[in-house]
Amino acid sequence: MRTFAIAASIAALALGLAGPASAQSPIIIKFSHVVATDTPKGKGAEKFKELAEKYTAGKVKVEVYPNSTLYKDKEELEALQLGSVQMLAPSNSKFGPLGIREFEVFDLPYILPDMKTLRKVTEGPLGTRLLKLLDAKGITGLAYWDNGFKQMSANKKLVTPADYQGVKFRIQSSRVLQAQFKALSSLPQVMAFSEVYQALQTGVVDGQENTWSNIYTQKMHEVQKYITETNHGYIGYVVIVNKKFWDDLPADIRDPLTKAMKEATDFSNTQSQKENDDALAEIKKSGKSEIIKLTPEQDAAMRKAMEPVYKDAAGRVGQPLIDEFLKEAKSATN
Ligand code: LMR
Repeated sequence: MRTFAIAASIAALALGLAGPASAQSPIIIKFSHVVATDTPKGKGAEKFKELAEKYTAGKVKVEVYPNSTLYKDKEELEALQLGSVQMLAPSNSKFGPLGIREFEVFDLPYILPDMKTLRKVTEGPLGTRLLKLLDAKGITGLAYWDNGFKQMSANKKLVTPADYQGVKFRIQSSRVLQAQFKALSSLPQVMAFSEVYQALQTGVVDGQENTWSNIYTQKMHEVQKYITETNHGYIGYVVIVNKKFWDDLPADIRDPLTKAMKEATDFSNTQSQKENDDALAEIKKSGKSEIIKLTPEQDAAMRKAMEPVYKDAAGRVGQPLIDEFLKEAKSATN
């Protein structure tokens, strides 16, 4: 009797697995992110969805959740590790709290002179090696997506390093960014991206640093009187998946998803500059925030004031990694 029951359930299981019902239900990829749809990351996520569903002929369904609708910064990484969400694209600055400090090298002020240099790093052996560090945390790194260069905003004019003294700045969860604002004698405060607008509006913080596309789509320019065009740092993303989820996918699903990710990456990275240029134009048009440009002398003073950040970061991300990054950067500009 018992043997019969077991045999029957095995048969049912086999039927269930091979049966038409399970063949029809698609694999769901929840892709959560914290920015607006109308940003480089938001558009990249939509492009991935379109291509992934097309290349798997509907066997995969990608659900994109923008604007922190599912999770805020810190929670989304925990949710990915738990498998509650399958795909994310956090900025490089957000991996420190997981114990992966190396990605904070991207936060060093003025480390990237241009996007060409960035590409050299992310597409070379260094970029691949950094992605591999994620494995130990149950995460697979699939691609690097650009946003762009950061600008400083506040309700006071930020021109010289002395202007930053005592100003409360919202930062992402990166110790390198903390050191950057400490070098300027400012008061950095870690805060989730979704909370920045309100914190600026209510005066919980006085200022923040971000890309034009993030400033514009979060309406930060409406609650900041001045934005200084510093281009002092970079925001970019690592597209990541839950490692077990990814490894368990059959090859005939994972391969088309890999192709979709490659094409979505090319798409996102070729139009990120335009997204930021367009956002800057819209901010200018709104007249809500005054845009300040620095003279070469003022720019040099900012660079000098932030130099100590490199020494501080060496203890965190390691001097050899900084040297390697700088070497790659130099070879790209030669
Ligand atoms: C931020 O937290 O300021 C950014 O990393 C948000 C994002 O994902 O672009």
